[in-house]
Amino acid sequence: KAECCITEVKHLQNQIRNLQGQLKSLQDIINKKHKVEDFINGSQTNEKLFAANGSAGDYKTSKATCSQAGGHLASPRTSSENGAIQRIIQRYNKAAYLDINDMQTEGIFKYQSVEVIGYANWAPGEPNDTGGEEDCVEMYTDGRWNDRSCGEERLIICEF
Ligand code: IPD
Ligand code: CA
Ligand code: CA
Repeated sequence: KAECCITEVKHLQNQIRNLQGQLKSLQDIINKKHKVEDFINGSQTNEKLFAANGSAGDYKTSKATCSQAGGHLASPRTSSENGAIQRIIQRYNKAAYLDINDMQTEGIFKYQSVEVIGYANWAPGEPNDTGGEEDCVEMYTDGRWNDRSCGEERLIICEF
C-alpha cells in the first residue's frame, strides 16, 4: 500500500528542486539589478525607488508621465527619501516638481492632493505663494523646497 506514493513523492521532490533553481535565478537577477540601481543612484536604503530618464514637463505632465509608467510623481516622506531625490536632481542639475500641492486650501500642502504632508524641507522664507499663484512644490539642487506655479518645465522624477 505504501508503494502507491513513491512515484508521487519523487515527482514532488523533483518539482521542489526545479522551483528552488528558479528561485535562485530570480534572486540572482534581483541582486544584480540592485547593484545597478546603487551604481546609478547611489546606495539606496529606501524601499521606494526613484527614477528619472531626463524628460521634463510641467506638474500635470510630470504626474501623467509617472502614472503612465506605473508609478507616481516623487513625493518624499522622510529626509532619506528627500536625499535620494536630491541626488537625481543634482545629476541632471535641474529642479523637479514633487507630488505635493496646496491647490485645495492655500497654505495646506498635501501629498497627491489628498493627505496633509508630515515631512517638509522648505527653503528659508518658503512657502511664500509669490503672486498668489504658487500651489506646486519644486525641489532645488540643494534638496530644499520652494512653492512654485505649476506651469514651469521641470525634471520628471517618478517613484515606484
Ligand atoms: C522666485 C524666487 C522666490 C520664490 C518664488 C520664485 P523668480 O523666482 O525664487 O524666492 O519664492 O517661488 O518664483 O520668479 O523671481 O525667478
Ligand atoms: Ca499656494
Ligand atoms: Ca515660492
